[in-house]
Amino acid sequence: MIVYLNGEFLPIEEAKISVLDRGFIYGDGVYELIPVYRRKSFRLPQHLTRLQHSLDGIRLTNPHTDAQWTSIVGEIIARQPYEDQGVYFQVTRGVAKRDHTFPKDVPATVFMMSNPLATPSADQIECGVAVVTAEDNRWRRCDLKTISLVGNVLMRQLAADAGGVETVMFRDGHLTEASASNVLIVKGGVIVAPPKDELILPGITYGATWEFAREAGIPFEIRPVPKEEALAADEMWLTSSTKEVLAITTVDGRPFAGGKPGPLFRKMHALFQARKPR
Ligand code: PDD
Repeated sequence: MIVYLNGEFLPIEEAKISVLDRGFIYGDGVYELIPVYRRKSFRLPQHLTRLQHSLDGIRLTNPHTDAQWTSIVGEIIARQPYEDQGVYFQVTRGVAKRDHTFPKDVPATVFMMSNPLATPSADQIECGVAVVTAEDNRWRRCDLKTISLVGNVLMRQLAADAGGVETVMFRDGHLTEASASNVLIVKGGVIVAPPKDELILPGITYGATWEFAREAGIPFEIRPVPKEEALAADEMWLTSSTKEVLAITTVDGRPFAGGKPGPLFRKMHALFQARKPR
């Protein structure tokens, strides 16, 4: 696999960084993951806008213009043998002697790779997926897509331990998101999603779902979602760049919403497929 590291394209085995990189020492950096269909990136401008938001949030200067990012992403896609890809990149605060305060005049480390896109299986789309629930114990800047992911890793493992795909989290009695996805519910024909505040990642797929719903005339409400309301919803969905939209049909080992994907999920799934780059 050919990856990008600080201005160079090279085989992954040759891509090396210092053990003093602040990404390694502190998890001091941010990342993006962009789905690519048939070698065309999906919503790259939106991902670059969110990247800027994450960089601003950790007070790190963007090392590239959007035009430069677009060109590097284009080149990494072109250098892979597969059509559908997941482009991952991260920017860290660079290499410096270990000290919590920001180093001065140190260039950011930029790393990019692209893997085959792991999209949901036909069975997951047809039958839905299982989740577990947990209290959200992460920090309060979940709107920043930082590489410090141990909180999310621990949450995701709770689901894996129980044979599920995600852990849906609640904070102070309200729905936040899942360990690597946003969570939307459906109640009485209305899609309801928690506000894009500091407690959730402003998902690009969540945004796409909102747009597709608006175009199709499906009502979409953005407001805090009480836990009881989520757990009694007609449908509950996961959205992310790799999951697209998936219906949740098992919660904490019990069938949810009749144990099968609902009608609005089917509609949104179809809208999604129709709008993916072809
Ligand atoms: N995860 N919330 C969290 C905590 C996430 O990590 C993600 C994405 C999302 C959905 O965002 P988007 O629709 O922009 O992919 C929500 C990516 C896929 C990951 O870390 O692999």
